[in-house]
Parts: sequence; C-alpha cells; structure tokens
Amino acid sequence: MGVSSNESLANLLKEERRFAPPAELAAAANVTAEAYKKAAADRLEFWATQARRLTWDIAPTETLDWSNPPFAKWFADGKLNVAYNCVDRHVEAGHGDRVALHFEGEPGDGRTVSYAELKDEVCRAANALIELGVKAGDRVAIYLPMIPEAVIAMLACARIGAPHSVVFGGFSADALATRIADADARVVITADGGYRRGKPSALKPAVDEALTRPGTEKVRNVLVVRRTGQETAWTEGRDLWWHDLVPRQSEQHTPQAFDAEHPLFILYTSGTTGKPKGILHTTGGYLTQTSYTVHAVFDLKPETDVFWCTADVGWVTGHSYIVYGPLSNGATQVLYEGTPDTPHQGRWWEIIQKYRVSILYTAPTAIRTCMKWGEDIPAKFDLSSLRLLGSVGEPINPEAWVWYRKYIGADRTPIVDTWWQTETGAIMISPLPGVTTTKPGSAQHPLPGVAATVIDDEGNEVPNGSGGYLVLTEPWPSMLRTIWGDEQRYLDTYWSRFENRYFAGDGAKKDEDGDIWLLGRVDDVMLVSGHNISTTEVESALVSHPKVAEAAVVGAADPTTGQAIAAFVILRGSATEEEGLIEELRAHVARELGPIAKPKRILAVAELPKTRSGKIMRRLLRDVAENRQLGDVTTLTDSTVMELIQSKLPAAP
Ligand code: WT7
Repeated sequence: MGVSSNESLANLLKEERRFAPPAELAAAANVTAEAYKKAAADRLEFWATQARRLTWDIAPTETLDWSNPPFAKWFADGKLNVAYNCVDRHVEAGHGDRVALHFEGEPGDGRTVSYAELKDEVCRAANALIELGVKAGDRVAIYLPMIPEAVIAMLACARIGAPHSVVFGGFSADALATRIADADARVVITADGGYRRGKPSALKPAVDEALTRPGTEKVRNVLVVRRTGQETAWTEGRDLWWHDLVPRQSEQHTPQAFDAEHPLFILYTSGTTGKPKGILHTTGGYLTQTSYTVHAVFDLKPETDVFWCTADVGWVTGHSYIVYGPLSNGATQVLYEGTPDTPHQGRWWEIIQKYRVSILYTAPTAIRTCMKWGEDIPAKFDLSSLRLLGSVGEPINPEAWVWYRKYIGADRTPIVDTWWQTETGAIMISPLPGVTTTKPGSAQHPLPGVAATVIDDEGNEVPNGSGGYLVLTEPWPSMLRTIWGDEQRYLDTYWSRFENRYFAGDGAKKDEDGDIWLLGRVDDVMLVSGHNISTTEVESALVSHPKVAEAAVVGAADPTTGQAIAAFVILRGSATEEEGLIEELRAHVARELGPIAKPKRILAVAELPKTRSGKIMRRLLRDVAENRQLGDVTTLTDSTVMELIQSKLPAAP
C-alpha cells in the first residue's frame, strides 16, 4: 500500500536523550568535526580524494560519468585489483604478520590467519580457479558456512575478475538453484557442512539437488571444503575437494588490473515480492566507499582495533563489512561461525572478551534478543575492550539503543546507527562517532559525499518535523549498477517513482534539527482513520515499556478506521503475562505517541516471524491479524513460529 494518501507520515515519537562523542575519541577520530565540515563542500572532489585511499594500477582521472542516468560509471578510466588492495598491499607495507582473521568455529575450534597467510591462500585459491578454467567475467557461486575459506574464495574470485554470487548457507536447494541459474555460474564453491546450534549441518546435499534443476547445467565443477567431516555424496569428474586442489597450487599469483567498472559481484536480495533481484556491484566505486566508511564510520585504527561484524558473508553486510571494507583497511577481525546462544547465551560476550574486540557491528534483532535474555548475561564478561558499537538492518528502537549502550558499551561507547541497503553497497546515512551528538533511534545524517532527503507524494522536500519517503538525490560510488539481466526492473524499482531520484522504499522523517529517522518499509506503513502511522514508532513505544523486549506491529483491515493497529510483543526475561498487562501496554503507547497510535489488539508471543537476515516479516503477522491463510513462509528462519503464534489466538467464532 505505501504512504499513498496525501497525509504525510505522522511525527509521533519524541526522543530527547542526547549523547555527545567521548572527548578522547573525538580528539583522535579519523574524521573530526573540522574535516566533516570541509568534506561536504564538493561531492565529486570528495570522492576523488577517497578513491586515492586505494592503490590503483592506473589512477582514474574521471570521477563520475552520469551521461546516461541512472547508469553510473565511477572512476571509469582507472584500473585496480580488489584482492591486491585487500591483501597484498598490506603485506608489502610490512604488515604481513598482522592478524587478518581470528576465526572462531562454533564447536570452539579456531584458526588465526595473518595477512601474509591470507595472501598465500588467496593466491592458491585463485590459481585453483584458473586450473578449473574460470576466466575473468565468469560467475562463481559460493555457498559456504562462516569459515575463512568463504573470505578466501571471495577474494580469489575478485583477484581473477570472476564475479562471485554468494548464497547464504541457510538457503534451500531451491533458492540456490534459482540464483545459480540466474547468474549462469560455472563453478560452485561449497563445504560438506558447517556447525549450527551445536551440530553439523550439511550443505553439499543442497548443491547436489540444486544442480539437478533446469538452468544449472553449465556448472562444470563443485569445489568442496571439508569442514565437518560428515558423509558426503560425490559426483566423480564434477566434484573436487578443496584440500586436494588448493594446497598444491603455487602461492604466487600476479594480480591483474581490472577496469573500475568491471563487475565484482552479484548478490540476490529477495525483496517482499517477485523473483529475487540480482544486485550488481562493480569494482572501483564499491571499494572506495566500503573502504572509506570503515575508516570514517567505525573510526578504524588498523594497528590497534579488533573489528567484529556479526553478519553472515551471505548478506551484503558481510560482503562490505567483513570482506571488502575492513580488509582494504588492513583490519584485524573476528569471524564467528555459529549462533549467539551455542553453547550458552553468553557466547558473543565470551568472544569479545577472548579477542579484545574493540568495535562491534550487529543488528537490532540481535540486541533485542539479548535484552530478552537479560543484562546479567553480558555482565559476566569483560567487555572493557569495546570502544564503538554499530547497528544495521532495521530501525533500532530507542530503548534497544540505550540498552546496547548501557549494558554492552558500559554507558561510554558511541553507537553508530547505519542506514544502507544491498543496493547502496555501503553505509549512506550514519552518525560519525567523533563528530555527531547521537540521538537513540536516529541514523541522523548522510555521510559526506552522500545526498539524501525526505520527500512527500509530489516529490517536494518535507519541512523539518515531517515525514515521507527517503530518497537519494545524487549518485554515489558504491551504488548498484543494475539488476543482473534486467535493466527495466532496475529502472522500475528504483528510478520511476520520483524523477531523477533513487527511491529507497523506506519511510522516514526529519526532526526539528533536520536529522533523519527511518520509519520502516513504506509497504508496512499503517493508515488509521486517515493518518499514516509508522510501524517502527509504535514498536519503539512498546519496547520502551520495561516489560517488553521486542514488538511487531501491523495494520489489519478494520471496518471503522480503515486499518487498526495489531501488536505482537515478546516480554522481557522475567516478565509474565499477568492480568492487566495488555491494557497497561495499550495505555503506555497512547501516552507515548497519542491516542491515534493505541493498538486495538496486543498479543504476547514467544517468538516473532523473522527472515534469515533477522527482519520481522510483518506480512505474515498481517495474515494472522486479518484471519487469512498464511502466505509464503519459506524464507522464515523457523517456520514453526507461525503455528505457535496462531495457537495463541482466540478460537475463531
Ligand atoms: C533495508 C535494506 C544494509 C545491510 C543490511 C540490510 C532497512 C537497514 C537500517 C537502519 C533503519 C534500516 C531499511 C533498508 N535498514 N539499515 N540503520 N535503520 N532501517 O540490507 O537486506 O538490503 O535491507 O533494511 O528498510 O531499506 P537489506
């Protein structure tokens, strides 16, 4: 439905808490208030300067070619090699002994990979792919658990100019087959399995099954990493063990320079409807912006920081903030294979204590889960190494933000709430830790070099204090170049709703200071008695009640108000569903946001339906609230969740 009436999004939430950057961090920050002011002046000059953070074989003289919008070319006459930038140049600069990856397996095994070792491994893997006949431009599908080989395989592809298409290891054979076919991949890199929730979980059978589907016939080889040692079916002539092929290769490989616009990877994003979109990212602009944002937003000091992004490499967050952004900066990172509660709910905090993690980047869904488990769990560990926290993936409720800062960040660390998308490739809107006085729940302002604003239905910029649609008004280096094989869909999805502006699909508001607050996907906005109300704001109001850990809100068809607000809440650790609580929660929302936002129905549940990347699937909750047959549940992490929720509903009359 979207924000379709002329009524703009109501601006309901008032959040008055403010947190200034710690003086010590601000004084030593990679981006200071001074530099921030200067940066804004000339956008193209700014990005040309950032491109010089990278090592180019041929330095670009042209910054942006926008002669055929919305098809951008950045740094088009430059040439570089991404793997060289992420690995070799750090070794050449004398940092070969620096740890690139502290790998922590779920069963507790581990491996430390230095930059020098990473270089040898990436070169061997690149030589192995060449032996398999992979050439620049050929696509390689990667379907691996979170193990060092995932990073090595991606960099090996980048090194030889073969675009990778990483498919999240939790996806089914079906999803894998669609992605292999659409990308027309020639080789698949996988593993026998990975460890999840304390047990080996097989991956190779899904590859075998996917390769029986039409459209996947061109896959010549399957390269298999042995991770779990489980029984693995084998197709002679097609399947090869990584340990047979890769270690016998030379660790010498001369990186070839590729055009800045050479395709680097395709990554599929499901969206809410239709077939997955293959988001295409290219080389020079993508690496420039991922590299710059690690430096600026995470204030990374490669000599001293230990960075941990908890995302899976199967998502864009893993591509940009485990592989390309941090490694191009020479960062030391943690790579963790498993789930946060295996074997106990303190596993993440134990890992931070063990490796002295200083920068943690995670998602609101994880923070709310930890809130539900209770603050006494992180309290058992030494988290004093942390100096900066980040959030991504969904709007973070102010209460979850404050909890994160207080119980994980010792009430001391700045939080950067980073807004971006698979399509944007890198962070676009975020506080800067040494510059911005933060507001819990707001991503605040576009980064230097990024142009974003909020507009109404007619495309006019809204005044401060109002809401509407988030748009990006100028091209940026790490923007998607197209949807793989479907230019028309690229135009229709992002560039047709408003002329010359990129439509992100998110609702947002500008507060009185002009700071941006994200309000969720426009498809989720509710229309109650003629008022557009954001699901995010009502959810945040519910989470601000001391007994609520997490909430999901939907608009359900209602004969009198058009839509009525239905809420699903998860209570905090010790809270129980006592008499009167639901009434208390409804009154609490009315007090926080006003009577218009008061949910008509609230149901306490044990779990919420989430996608594998942690986003709440409101569409399914809408089906429940409107007593409809459930839609497609195949992308849920746990499909039994919906049965549990339905069993809590009063029996149909
Ligand atoms: C959508 C993009 C960006 C990597 C992970 C998700 C939502 C993302 C925020 C944030 C509010 C956010 C938006 C966006 N989103 N970050 N900080 N505040 N909303 O990538 O799967 O492509 O999803 O995630 O709705 O459009 P993605």
